Formats: sequence, structure tokens, C-alpha cells
Amino acid sequence: MNILCIGDIVGKPGRAALEGHLENIKQEFDIDFTIVNAENSAGGSGVTSRIAKHFFEMGCDVLTLGDHVWDQKEVETYLNEEEFIVRPANFPNGAPGKGWCIKTTSSGVKIGVINMLGRVFMRYYVDCPFRALEAIVEEISQQTPNIIVDMHAEATSEKIALGHFIDGRVSAVFGTHTHIQTADEKILPKQTAYITDIGMTGPCDSVIGQNKENIVQRFLTGRPVRFSVAQEGVSLHGVVIDVDETTGRARNIVRIQRPFAAQENALSSEEK
Ligand SMILES: [Fe+2]
Ligand SMILES: [Fe+2]
Repeated sequence: MNILCIGDIVGKPGRAALEGHLENIKQEFDIDFTIVNAENSAGGSGVTSRIAKHFFEMGCDVLTLGDHVWDQKEVETYLNEEEFIVRPANFPNGAPGKGWCIKTTSSGVKIGVINMLGRVFMRYYVDCPFRALEAIVEEISQQTPNIIVDMHAEATSEKIALGHFIDGRVSAVFGTHTHIQTADEKILPKQTAYITDIGMTGPCDSVIGQNKENIVQRFLTGRPVRFSVAQEGVSLHGVVIDVDETTGRARNIVRIQRPFAAQENALSSEEK
């Protein structure tokens, strides 16, 4: 089966690119299941319940998040209510929402999706992603061998180490958060698909999705500046992973990058 994983949707340009491309990509790659990282989809910071519902209507199966999960206060209730939106699993006990879910495809295959947050160069003091992941994988494995991990982290070393640590016990580990797609997609020795970062879906003529002039000023002056989502060079980034659903082992991983023309940049809904 083919699993589509799409990188961090950034603001309105990212949402438009997802909406513009999703159906065509699904047909082209014969996609059975779609996972989308939504952590920057609301104006670049977090996700709202309204935007998440729109993504499900578009045909996304599971939404993952990251360090921006708490940026929109409103979403906390929704995280508790909606089964197929997951935030990093290694936030301390008591955090709203859940860190993993299992969804059944239309052909009856169960797929577990786990969201983890790295600790290196990150702003939150979360639990150890290695040990937390291991415990969740053990639990999900009792129901299905098909397990996909979104490792949301800054440091390449932490993501690669986690991939090797869990190799052979999950179908795939894909990285998110840096917004820059890496060219290291591979099948690890024990048949887990791996990539350090699948990239973002949003304006790429920017500094990781934000207006480039503002960010350059921030570096030049050492002072805070107002962040705003850039608009130009919009592109969708992600991977397609082919998994043998009887064993959960990955057979192939392919990177995708799809530019999205500015004139197509109109959402079907009026959301910001
Ligand atoms: Fe992030
Ligand atoms: Fe992000």
C-alpha cells in the first residue's frame, strides 16, 4: 500500500497548495492513506479546529503536529475530541490530546500513526522520545505491524538516531520541523523507511515559510521582529512510502516536490 506523508502546511499558501495538489497526487501514486503535518497551518502558528476539519474534508486521514501545537488555544478541546489528530506523544502526562492513533483504511488495513518531538535545540522539555516511542510501538504492534512515525525535531542527529533505534519495529520514520526537505530518503537495514525531513508545504521564497526581509532584519539587528507568512514560491513537499501491509515492512520511499502556481492560490473556503 502507498502512504502519502506531507510536510508542514504553512499558512494560507500552504493550505491552497494542499488543496490544489492532493487529489492529483493521490491518483498518480495510487495512495491508500494520507498523513499531513498541520502544525503551521493557521497563519504559520498551530492549527485551529476549523482548519483541521477542512483538511479531513479534503481527504487527509491523520493530522500530526509539533512544537507549535499550543499556539492556538482554541484547538485544545478539539485535540481531546477528534480521534485522528495527534500532537507529540512525549509531552508530559496530562497534556490535552493524544500522541498516537490507529485508523483503518477503506480496504481494512490498520495503520498506527505516532507523533514525537525531539529534545535537541527545541523549546519544550518533553519526555525522552526514544523511550516514549518504544513503549507506544509495543502497544500498537499488538494491533497492527503498520506504524508510521512523524519525528518532529530540529537536529538531524536526533532524527537519524531515532530511525536506527526503531528500525525494523515500524514501517517508517519521517522527519518534520526544519521545513527543508533532505535528500537522504532510504530503507534502513531492517526495512523501515526513513527520511530526515520531508520539507514544508508553503511559500519557499522565504526563511522557512516566514517573510525573508523580516527574518534577515532579525539576524542583522539581534532584535525581535514581527513574523509574517511569506507568499511566494509556493510548493508542496512530502514523500510516498510503499509498505507491505501484511508485514509492515517498507519497500520503497520516494520524495515529492510540487510547485504551486500563484494564480491557483485560492482556497475554496475563505479561511485565513
Ligand atoms: Fe516545528
Ligand atoms: Fe513546522
